[in-house]
This record gives sequence, C-alpha cells and structure tokens, in this order.
Amino acid sequence: MEQRKFWPWIWDSDGWSVALVLLLLVFFSQNATSTPIYNTFHSENHDWTFNHLTVHQATGAVYVGAINRVYKLSGNLTILVAHKTGPEEDNKSCYPPLIVQPCTEILTLTNNVNKLLIIDYSENRLLACGSLYQGVCKLLRLDDLFILVEPSHKKEHYLSSVNKTGTMYGVIVRSEGEDGKLFIGTAVDGKQDYFPTLSSRKLPRDPESSAMLDYELHSDFVSSLIKIPSDTLALVSHFDIFYIYGFASGNFVYFLTVQPETPEGVSINAASDLFYTSRIVRLCKDDPKFHSYVSLPFGCVKGDVEYRLLQAAYLSKPGDVLARSLNITAQDDVLFAIFSKGQKQYHQPPDDSALCMFPIRAINAQIKDRLQSCYQGEGNLELNWLLGKDVQCTKAPVPIDDNFCGLDINQPLGGSVPVEGVTLYTTSRDRMTAVTSYVYNGYSVVFVGTKSGKLKKVSLWFCFVFI
Ligand SMILES: *[C@@H]1O[C@H](CO)[C@@H](O)[C@H](O)[C@H]1NC(C)=O
Ligand SMILES: *[C@@H]1O[C@H](CO)[C@@H](O)[C@H](O)[C@H]1NC(C)=O
Ligand SMILES: *[C@@H]1O[C@H](CO)[C@@H](O)[C@H](O)[C@H]1NC(C)=O
Ligand SMILES: *[C@@H]1O[C@H](CO)[C@@H](O)[C@H](O)[C@H]1NC(C)=O
Repeated sequence: MEQRKFWPWIWDSDGWSVALVLLLLVFFSQNATSTPIYNTFHSENHDWTFNHLTVHQATGAVYVGAINRVYKLSGNLTILVAHKTGPEEDNKSCYPPLIVQPCTEILTLTNNVNKLLIIDYSENRLLACGSLYQGVCKLLRLDDLFILVEPSHKKEHYLSSVNKTGTMYGVIVRSEGEDGKLFIGTAVDGKQDYFPTLSSRKLPRDPESSAMLDYELHSDFVSSLIKIPSDTLALVSHFDIFYIYGFASGNFVYFLTVQPETPEGVSINAASDLFYTSRIVRLCKDDPKFHSYVSLPFGCVKGDVEYRLLQAAYLSKPGDVLARSLNITAQDDVLFAIFSKGQKQYHQPPDDSALCMFPIRAINAQIKDRLQSCYQGEGNLELNWLLGKDVQCTKAPVPIDDNFCGLDINQPLGGSVPVEGVTLYTTSRDRMTAVTSYVYNGYSVVFVGTKSGKLKKVSLWFCFVFI
C-alpha cells in the first residue's frame, strides 16, 4: 500500500484570523477505487484558532502554534503533546517579570496568540513566541515540548505585544555547530522605542546563556536593528510594517512586508487615506551593522490590473521543467506569492487575487542593478519612512558583485521600481490566502488555499498553468 502525503494545510478565514480546520489528505493507491481519507484535529476550545504550523523535515511531526497552546501532532494528526501557553494574567502596559517590575495596572486573563513557531533543527528545539508579556518566547524541546528556557527579564526578550498573526516573521540562520542568529521582523503598534521593526538576535546553543536574544551588535553608532523613526509616526499616524514571510537563500535573508506608502512631507492621519505597498527587504546573513539593507517594492500585474497587497508566500524549488523554461537551475530558489488587487484595502483585502512567481535570481539581479546605479551617484536612496527626507546617492568607485553587503554610504537603500513577478493565475472570487509548493517528477506543483477553505492545485508546465 503506497501512501502519498501532501502538506498539511492551514488557511485563514478572514485575512487576519487563522485556520479553523487542519486537513491532511492521504491518498491510498491500493486499488482502483482509491478513497481519500481525512483526519482532522481540533483545539480544545474552538475559539483557540491556529496561528502557525510547521512540519519537521525528518520526523514528519507536526507542530501547531495556536491561541493558548502549542501542539505536537504525529503525521496523521494524532495529538502527542499539548503545551499550555495561556491564558494568563497580563496587561499590555506591564513589562515582565512582575516580581522584578511590579505593575500597578489592572491585570486580566489574556489570550496568548502564537506569533512565531520555528524549528531550530541543529539544536533540536522549537522557538515559540506569543503575544503575552510583550511577546516573550520559549525554547521547547522538540520531543516533549518541555520548556528549556523562557527568557523574560530584559527588554531584548520582548519581541512585540501585537496580538495578531501575519504581523511578525522570524528566520533562523545557523552554521552547523555554531551559535545561531534569529532575524525578526515585527509590527510594533506605535511602540517604536521599545520594539525595532527589524533586528537580528543571538541564538546561543546553550539555552541558559545570558546572551539569549541579545542584539547581534548593539553600540551607540551601529546596531543590528532598525527602528521606525518617531517623525514617521508623527507624519503618518497609523504607520507600521507587517512582516508576512521571510526566508534565507544564498548569503541573504529576505523579509516580505506590507507597509503604508509615505510620500515625502505628506501628513496622513486617517487610516482610510493610506496606500499600501508590498516590499522585499534583503539583508546579508553576515552583516551585524545592517549596511546591506535594501528594500524594493514588489507585486505583479495582469492586463491593466495591479496586484500589490501581499497575502502569503512560499519559497520553493522550480523542478527541472519550470527551471528550464526560466533559464535557471533546479537547485535555484523560486518564490510563490499571492497578492490581492490594488493598494488600498490591506485590512479588508479584495477577493480579486493573483498567484505569482519570482525566481530569487531575478530579485537579486534587480537589487544589484539598483545598488550599481546608486553607487554611480544616480538619484536618491528612496526610503522616506526611514530617512525622513530625500538623500542623494553618493558616487563611489566600488565593484558591486552578486554578494555585495553594503558600505556605510548609500544605506539603507530603498527604491520605487517594483520587482514584477510572473503572474500564473488570477481569480476574482474567493480570495487566495495561502500557498505552498513542491516538486513532483520534475514538475512544480503549487497548492493554494482560499478564504472559504478550498484547496486548489496548480501544476506548472513550462509556465503554462493547469488548475
Ligand atoms: C498515527 O500515528 C501514530 C504514530 O505515528 C500511530 O501510533 C497511530 O497508530 C496512528 N494512528 C492512526 C489512526 O493511523
Ligand atoms: C490595563 O490596565 C489599565 C489601567 O490599570 C486598565 O484601564 C485596562 O483596562 C487594563 N487592560 C486590560 C486588558 O485589562
Ligand atoms: C487582541 O487584543 C484586543 C485588544 O486588546 C482584544 O480585543 C482581542 O480580543 C485580542 N485577541 C485575542 C485573540 O485575544
Ligand atoms: C540563461 O542563463 C545564462 C547564465 O545564467 C545566460 O548566460 C544565458 O544568456 C541565458 N539565456 C537566455 C536565453 O536568457
């Protein structure tokens, strides 16, 4: 009996909230009348929706981050461990630990929304961060979800108290046997003093290390972090950056964000007046000064319709067939991304949505062009929200190759010409909200989840699309 397993699937029901049902499709090709078998798993309380899911590459164990729980399930969705994370007494105005910093605010029983769930493979542990206590994290043993450490006694341990999923993303970078790094991008909800929008943290192998989650570099002049300037919040009162997805590829770490546009000197007070842009942010893995920060808008177009509001993304491989048609190799990375139409309704995205594809090689080529033209002294840095004004690019005779990691000039660098993806499929009903992909027999197969919980399979043959 051959059993073929597809990715466990999770979808969101209204853009911000999360999966209600987890579905595992198991196809048995035992006889001609193959019957799909559905196993389901529900949390103990139906209000405790699922926020994140990750499947262990080697063991196939499924880890689910939900409101108030982290679950470990077997591949067939049998529950193995339920780890309690909430609700607990908390108040957003309090900073832990309460024994050290007594808080006079009224404490109420508060849900702990899972914000981050990443497997730290080389140390056999799971990083699980929540919304409680300003967003502290736990390191849990993969086997039994035993708490290895829950650092919460200094500012660096708080990642963000925003209690919505789809606002924070983390990427672990680690060379075998060495201490790791955690890159974190997060919405800050106006608390820009407390929380950097983007930072890299130490992730020591020893869970007891006092350096756990410290900024990789933190000095008066240079640090491994970027804060939203208070001037930007004064000008655009609802300004924030939402981190939808992130990944490491080659020497770089990438984050995919959605953020309001900030035209120079234009003050915006009503949230309804905001235009949003999706952006790719790229940093070198090994650049604690963040001089390599580059950010370009991205999206895709079909006919004269622009799709600019990122909903979900997934980094994958193209497979031989798609690779050949894109003139890349099967080992190259490609990004599949879903966007909603337009730039206005980020918080209630339109149903009109597109599935698009970006070879990482093409993203890097466009970033390299942008760097080269800026180092020729052409134009401005174009990063208003961070620089607050137009800063001219400085001409400098520096060779810029594929792995250029920036200097202390011409950084941080933005841009206004979008990286345009290949539009694979669009639909105007039942917005697409989730995407995953794998390679089967050399062909790239993409699964798309929709708002109403439907699953669509998209097969890519030489860029022709079969649904
Ligand atoms: C599910 O998997 C577990 C462990 O992998 C196994 O012990 C159990 O029998 C399986 N249950 C079903 C219903 O297949
Ligand atoms: C937090 O404390 C303030 C002041 O004590 C109180 O007004 C507020 O209701 C509390 N918030 C919650 C969610 O309990
Ligand atoms: C998030 O916080 C808001 C306001 O504090 C609250 O109304 C909402 O119920 C919280 N969400 C969850 C899932 O607990
Ligand atoms: C394919 O890529 C190679 C190297 O990346 C390049 O030299 C070649 O010109 C490309 N071919 C086409 C048709 O774009």
